[in-house]
Amino acid sequence: MNSTINVLENRCSIRSYLDQELMVEEKETILNAAYRAPTAGNMMLYSIIEVESKQIKEKLVETCDNQPFIKKAPFVLIFLADYQRWFDYYQHSQVEEFCQQQGIPYRFPQEGDLMIACSDALIAAQNAVIAAESMGIGSCYIGDIMENYEVHREMFDLPPYVFPIAMVCFGYPANKPDQPRPRFDGKFIRFKDSYRRLSPDELDEMFNEREALLFKNRPELNGAVNFGQFQYRRKFGADFSQEMSRSVRAAMARWLEH
Ligand SMILES: Cc1cc2nc3c(=O)[nH]c(=O)nc-3n(C[C@H](O)[C@H](O)[C@H](O)COP(=O)(O)O)c2cc1C
Repeated sequence: MNSTINVLENRCSIRSYLDQELMVEEKETILNAAYRAPTAGNMMLYSIIEVESKQIKEKLVETCDNQPFIKKAPFVLIFLADYQRWFDYYQHSQVEEFCQQQGIPYRFPQEGDLMIACSDALIAAQNAVIAAESMGIGSCYIGDIMENYEVHREMFDLPPYVFPIAMVCFGYPANKPDQPRPRFDGKFIRFKDSYRRLSPDELDEMFNEREALLFKNRPELNGAVNFGQFQYRRKFGADFSQEMSRSVRAAMARWLEH
């Protein structure tokens, strides 16, 4: 196994950090790895905000579903899907007049542009995660940065065509799981040539291990009698998930104003 595969296979999300700053060179290496990620049309449709301020980190603990480890992370990056920079450049380049002359449509950023900018931002984020991991620096994504759009918009001065798709906390691990966290068997994930919905038996088999682990020696957990019910309450049906959808809807409405 080569060292890259080794890093990929052993990475775990790290949520507790040593009280140790990252060196400037380490931060630069992580950011340079992000910039080297593949990017649609070589456009770098993302921006990255390093959150240095302790007060802002403390606020993010609250606005990102009360996750206290955010304020303990020595290095915090927010990855923004960003079409603003390119659209500003198009406007600066008199593209509207050009379109009129050429008889081609002039348009504002739309849904597809948001999706591709999100792809760019996330791929850059994952490069940063793997670069950090290869240097012994742990990390954890915070998807909850998508919540409370109005608050984050104000905090970070976000224009309409910028959306915070992910935050990543970095730091030297204070402790690490003994082994990587389990994944579903690939046979449920990978298909050939077309998509295939899983049968009820396959669904049972897929979740069997997680259910057995969670419900070991107990017939129910917070009213749930199986893993599906438990997970629905904890994630999909939880308040934070509903807030995320509300918030994304608000951001999309602003993105799609024109
Ligand atoms: C898009 C995304 C959002 C996530 N958001 C959070 C989060 O808000 N808080 C958190 O503690 N972990 C978060 N995680 C980390 C996952 O919980 C973690 O990747 C998963 O449990 C598997 O564990 P592992 O990364 O150690 O393999 C997120 C991961 C991803 C990819």
